[in-house]
Amino acid sequence: MKIDLIAGARPNFMKVAPIIDAIKIAQSHGENIKYRLVHTGQHYDKNMSGSFFEQLGIPLPDVNLEVGSGSQAEQTAKIMVMYESLLLKESADYCLVVGDVTSTMACSIVAKKMNIKVVHVEGGIRSWDLTMPEEINRMVTDSITDYFFTTSDTANSNLINIGIKKENIFFVGNTMIDTLLKHRPNFQKPPIWDKIKLKEKNYFVITLHRPANVDEEQILLGFMDEIVAHSKNMPIIFPVHPRTSKIIKNLMSAGSQNLINKNLHLVEPLSYLEFNYLVEKTKAVITDSGGITEETTVMNIPCMTLRENTERPETIELGTNELLGVDPKAIAPAMQKLFLGKWKKGKVPKLWDGKTAERIVNCLINIEQI
Ligand code: UD1
Repeated sequence: MKIDLIAGARPNFMKVAPIIDAIKIAQSHGENIKYRLVHTGQHYDKNMSGSFFEQLGIPLPDVNLEVGSGSQAEQTAKIMVMYESLLLKESADYCLVVGDVTSTMACSIVAKKMNIKVVHVEGGIRSWDLTMPEEINRMVTDSITDYFFTTSDTANSNLINIGIKKENIFFVGNTMIDTLLKHRPNFQKPPIWDKIKLKEKNYFVITLHRPANVDEEQILLGFMDEIVAHSKNMPIIFPVHPRTSKIIKNLMSAGSQNLINKNLHLVEPLSYLEFNYLVEKTKAVITDSGGITEETTVMNIPCMTLRENTERPETIELGTNELLGVDPKAIAPAMQKLFLGKWKKGKVPKLWDGKTAERIVNCLINIEQI
C-alpha cells in the first residue's frame, strides 16, 4: 500500500509527524505500507515550517511543491496543478490529508479525480461558519473523502448527518495530541523567558491570525487595547503570525502608538517546543486558533478564544476553552473571572491519549486487507 501524506501549513506538521512514526513501526513489523511525504510549500519560512520538521523529527519531504504565497484561489490552483503532475509521474493508493488548510482541500480534490482513495484525518469537524476559508476546506474535503478519522463524537455525528456510512468513520482521537504528549518532556525555554525574567503563571500568551480578527486594523487594535488594559500589568507575549505582522507593520509605519506598551512583547513565531513551553506555564492563552484550544485543554491551561464559533466544541464542553466572541468588551469580564480563580478546570476528551496515529495506521492496514 502506497500512501501520500500531505503537509502544507504549520498546523499540519504536528498532525502528520506521529503518522510517519506509526508507519515506520508498522514497516518494522513487516507490514507492506510505504509513504511519500508531500510538502505543498504553502508555508515555507523556517519559522512556519522548517523548525517544525527539525524539532518533531519529521523526515525531509520526498517532494516539495513549493507553491508559496498567494490568494486562496492562486494557492489552491497551484497546489492542484503541481500535485496532479506528481501523481501522473508516480501515483499512490491513498492520499492522506490532515486538518483544514488550503493544501488539505486542494490535494484531496486532485487525488479523488484520479480515483485515488482519500483519507481525511480530523474529518467531520464543523464551525458552520462559511466566512472562514477553513470551513469551506473541511466541507469540500469531507464531501469526497473515502475514510474519515475523527477526533470527537460531534465529528462522528456531523458526518452521519451528511449521509456518510458508519463503516467509513473511524473515531481514533487526535494526532495533534500524540505530538504534544510525545514532546511535552522536551519543551524548550525560549530566549524571551530569561530576557524579560518571566515567571510561571505570571504572563499571558496571545496568538491572532484569522483574517476576520487581524485584517481590519481597528479590530486588531481593539483587542490589543483591552488585553493590555485588563492583564494587571503582567507581561503579554505575542508571537506574531506573518499575516498579522504585515498589518502591525502598516500600523506602526502610520505612527500608531497602541501597540507600544512596556508589557506587550511582539516576537517572531516561535518553534513548537518553545511555544508550548510558554503555553504550559502561562496564566492563560488568548487566541483565535483552533488547534491551540486542543493543546490548552490537554495541558489544563485557561484559554480565551476570540471567535464567535468553534469546530471543536469539546474544548468548551470538557476543556478549558471559552468563546469570547469578537467584541473586545468581552475581554474585561473574562480576565476578571480568571484573576478571581474561577476559570473552569478541564477534562481530556476521549481517546486524546497519544496513541491515535497507531490506531490510524492499524485501521488503514485492515482496510487494505478487506
Ligand atoms: C493558514 C491556514 C490556517 C492556519 C494557519 C496557521 C488556510 C486557508 N489557512 O492561514 O488554517 O491556521 O495557516 O498558520 O490554509 N506567509 C509567510 N511565511 C510563511 C507562510 C505564509 O510570510 O511561511 C505569509 C503569506 O505570504 C501570507 C500570510 O503569511 O501573506 C498568510 O499565509 P497563508 O498560507 O495564506 O494563510 P494563513 O493565514 O497562514
